[in-house]
Amino acid sequence: MKTTASLVLMAAIRAAAATALPESPVSNVRALAFDRFYQVWLENTAYSASAADPNMQWLSSQGILLTNYHGVTHPSEPNYCAAAGGDTFGMDWDQWFQVPANISSVPDLLDTKGISWAEYQEQLPYAGFQGFNYSNQETLKDDYVRRHNPLVLYDAVVVDDTRARQIKNFTGFEADLANKKLPQWAFITPNVTNDAHDTNITFGAKWERHWMSALLQNDYFMKDTLVLLTFDEDIYDISDKSATFDQGSRVHSILLGGAIPDHLKGTTDDTFYTHYSTIASVSANWGLPSLGRWDCGANIFEIVANKTGYLNYDVDLTNLYLNYTYPGPLTTGILEQYFGGATNLKTSPSSKWTWPVPNVDAKCSAGYGVLDTVKRTYSGMKATYNYTSPYPWDSVSGYNLNVTATRKSAYTTTTTTDTSSTSRGSAATETLPVLSGTSRGTGPSFNAMLVAVVALFAFQQ
Ligand SMILES: *[C@@H]1O[C@H](CO)[C@@H](O)[C@H](O)[C@H]1NC(C)=O
Ligand SMILES: *[C@@H]1O[C@H](CO)[C@@H](O)[C@H](O)[C@H]1NC(C)=O
Ligand SMILES: *[C@@H]1O[C@H](CO)[C@@H](O)[C@H](O)[C@H]1NC(C)=O
Ligand SMILES: *[C@@H]1O[C@H](CO)[C@@H](O)[C@H](O)[C@H]1NC(C)=O
Ligand SMILES: *[C@@H]1O[C@H](CO)[C@@H](O)[C@H](O)[C@H]1NC(C)=O
Ligand SMILES: *[C@@H]1O[C@H](CO)[C@@H](O)[C@H](O)[C@H]1NC(C)=O
Ligand SMILES: *[C@@H]1O[C@H](CO)[C@@H](O)[C@H](O)[C@H]1NC(C)=O
Ligand SMILES: *[C@@H]1O[C@H](CO)[C@@H](O)[C@H](O)[C@H]1NC(C)=O
Ligand SMILES: *[C@@H]1O[C@H](CO)[C@@H](O)[C@H](O)[C@H]1NC(C)=O
Repeated sequence: MKTTASLVLMAAIRAAAATALPESPVSNVRALAFDRFYQVWLENTAYSASAADPNMQWLSSQGILLTNYHGVTHPSEPNYCAAAGGDTFGMDWDQWFQVPANISSVPDLLDTKGISWAEYQEQLPYAGFQGFNYSNQETLKDDYVRRHNPLVLYDAVVVDDTRARQIKNFTGFEADLANKKLPQWAFITPNVTNDAHDTNITFGAKWERHWMSALLQNDYFMKDTLVLLTFDEDIYDISDKSATFDQGSRVHSILLGGAIPDHLKGTTDDTFYTHYSTIASVSANWGLPSLGRWDCGANIFEIVANKTGYLNYDVDLTNLYLNYTYPGPLTTGILEQYFGGATNLKTSPSSKWTWPVPNVDAKCSAGYGVLDTVKRTYSGMKATYNYTSPYPWDSVSGYNLNVTATRKSAYTTTTTTDTSSTSRGSAATETLPVLSGTSRGTGPSFNAMLVAVVALFAFQQ
């Protein structure tokens, strides 16, 4: 049934779609191991299920299979959030969350060298759309969902109209490909049918092979490009209260593209990686700073680490749990309430937790220190967590204690055990003013209005 609210919303979307122009900046900043990095995320599939799929097997034969790559928590949205900003901020659910403008994300790193970036979200109704979802207008089935869109979660990205319009749909991808205006960094989200969320891995893998095969034949697309095919998380079914999750949230991940030397095609790499490794690898590749969060200590894809000489860590998985997260400002407690059998779910985060403070002093795995804006915003404040670790942990809530990481080395081996550490500082006083370095242009107030309308109705649907 169409309510007045949804009719008003649809009219607003149509009006905005008629005028919102996609933004397609281009650049050619050369780097160490690849000149483009594109990631395509499918949904909710156990490693073993994806590895058994014949289309996935074909895709891995074309590149390097990463056998030890991990999502960082459940459910979906915090994983997408993590891949853009280096933390989940305690997020434990899939609703409307916004990360404040004083928190930086990958676009801020790329912008330091003018490296072009974009997102391609299938069936996003128009470039820069910030609504909660956009459904198939004939069947009313879900298509685009905000929870699978990492950059839209970050206020520092979407308050800027030009930046927001770099969040495009698949029509935009086809146009950029045809016009040779593809960016150097992109995040790609198929709709919830194609990404296996509302279907299954058989369907998702078939879509992915079909979509990738065409690109693997395209010289313009392939040249010096690295593509990561991965999943947000392993199996996750909230309706099944007896569900057990693969404790490490290991997801079947494949590196493809022209940046991969022929002799490595069809090989495997068992280095420990997480979604945070995507940020660290991009930093190391282009010589960019870190966000100073969990990307800071993350392992770097071998294809880059081999060039910078960085020695990754081996992480013992025995006591590593990446199937939940430590509490933070975006924790609602919904997951616990749900599993506890609550019927009247509380849906907003509590204000108990402050926004975590990044490490502004570390050199980080990529080797270029921390972004200047981050340093200015958080100078003099004590980092909330030990962000130089290759996996997330928190001594206060007891998250991932007792995990051992050993640096890989041809000559010496050093072992660090985080058990006795107390590096998670007491909550720092946040008195610094919000930096205004992100206000490059003002977005149309129309979009802001739309966001407000959608936010208002998101929970009544
Ligand atoms: C994609 O975005 C463009 C530009 O904003 C818009 O005109 C078009 O209708 C959108 N296409 C789809 C399939 O949503
Ligand atoms: C969002 O999804 C709901 C169903 O959950 C649907 O009723 C509504 O029309 C969708 N909104 C848009 C803009 O597609
Ligand atoms: C998802 O996208 C495909 C095209 O890739 C389209 O055919 C399909 O209708 C979309 N899914 C839904 C539920 O509309
Ligand atoms: C996915 O669903 C299709 C259609 O229902 C079915 O044929 C196929 O066996 C399923 N795949 C898996 C891995 O369960
Ligand atoms: C995480 O995995 C561990 C070990 O399998 C399990 O005991 C625990 O219940 C899981 N946590 C959640 C939130 O599912
Ligand atoms: C990195 O170097 C190691 C050791 O020489 C080698 O085995 C591996 O294949 C290299 N990996 C890549 C992706 O170049
Ligand atoms: C932080 O983590 C790194 C890497 O695991 C470790 O070497 C270091 O000792 C840790 N620092 C503290 C204060 O626990
Ligand atoms: C960590 O190890 C200590 C000592 O072996 C043990 O008492 C404690 O329960 C462990 N903590 C966790 C969270 O596994
Ligand atoms: C960042 O913004 C949040 C939300 O507005 C605020 O609570 C926090 O104090 C700010 N942090 C700093 C260091 O300015």
